[in-house]
Amino acid sequence: MVGAAAYVLAILLLFMAGGARRGAAAGGGQPIAFSHRLHAGQLKLDCQFCHFYARRSASAGVPSVGHCMRCHELVETKSPDLQKLREHWERRQPIAWSRVYDLPDHVVFSHEKHVRAEVACARCHGAVETMETVQPVQEEFTMGWCMQCHKERKASLECLSCHR
Ligand code: HEC
Ligand code: HEC
Ligand code: HEC
Ligand code: HEC
Ligand code: HEC
Repeated sequence: MVGAAAYVLAILLLFMAGGARRGAAAGGGQPIAFSHRLHAGQLKLDCQFCHFYARRSASAGVPSVGHCMRCHELVETKSPDLQKLREHWERRQPIAWSRVYDLPDHVVFSHEKHVRAEVACARCHGAVETMETVQPVQEEFTMGWCMQCHKERKASLECLSCHR
């Protein structure tokens, strides 16, 4: 349902977004200057419209080029970044996004458990819909930080819940 609603909204916004945002700083080290502020902020796309694995797996996942093209076959601007996106699509070549967050391998984390327990994305990732480029809001995800909320929410404090 979120998906359908987002499309209707996006189509309405196609007519409104032209000229809404111009000349924002590019990149932040990403291969294509994808803006959360535009897509999640101005266009109000739901986080899980793109990160749709969050509710059903450990990873939130990053959308494929095909997911972007569901809109960008129609939505074109003179942006060189959209040109790059189309080239990826034509060559069937995935985009090598740089990771922002990355836990050490000995830690187990699951988006599914947290999303189902209704912990908001913003509680851990900050106000991503205001960010041109995703910036880490936690210096790092430390054990103390995980434990503090687990105590408050009476979630597991067992070593083996978070460590293999
Ligand atoms: C239109 C699709 C789209 C929407 C909507 C979207 N994202 Fe993203 N998100 C991406 C893409 C593409 C990337 C990878 C590039 C980047 O880091 O900007 C990403 C990356 C991220 C990352 C960094 C992941 C990492 O560690 O590398 C976080 C955190 C994130 N998104 C959270 C959110 C949140 C929270 C929302 C809702 C407020 C949201 N996203 C909405 C497409 C989207
Ligand atoms: C629901 C529709 C939708 C989806 C899905 C979507 N976009 Fe967009 N995107 C838009 C709209 C609308 C604009 C604004 C166009 C304008 O400025 O007229 C836009 C603009 C852009 C721009 C150009 C910004 C500029 O400065 O002109 C880039 C680059 C972009 N999107 C990349 C992506 C990438 C990468 C994905 C997939 C991760 C994606 N988009 C998914 C609707 C979408
Ligand atoms: C309880 C804290 C927490 C919540 C809530 C949370 N995340 Fe994350 N997120 C993390 C951690 C920790 C990582 C790094 C995981 C790793 O390195 O294995 C991460 C990584 C990511 C990534 C990188 C790709 C991936 O799947 O690892 C994306 C995208 C992301 N989160 C989006 C979201 C979105 C969207 C939501 C809300 C639906 C959300 N997150 C909710 C803590 C959280
Ligand atoms: C803002 C609060 C919050 C933060 C921060 C948080 N968690 Fe959680 N966590 C929860 C809640 C709530 C649950 C679900 C408890 C339940 O389902 O009974 C949970 C569940 C889990 C589970 C599943 C445990 C089980 O036995 O099923 C794991 C694993 C986990 N968290 C790891 C982490 C890690 C690793 C971090 C830090 C990177 C973290 N969490 C940060 C609130 C949080
Ligand atoms: C809620 C999740 C969670 C629980 C429960 C948890 N840890 Fe951790 N632990 C983490 C995270 C996240 C890290 C990695 C970040 C860091 O180094 O602070 C970590 C790191 C560690 C490290 C490596 C520290 C270092 O300096 O690299 C050790 C050792 C450790 N944990 C032991 C334990 C023991 C023993 C328990 C049980 C008493 C436990 N952990 C319970 C999340 C958890």
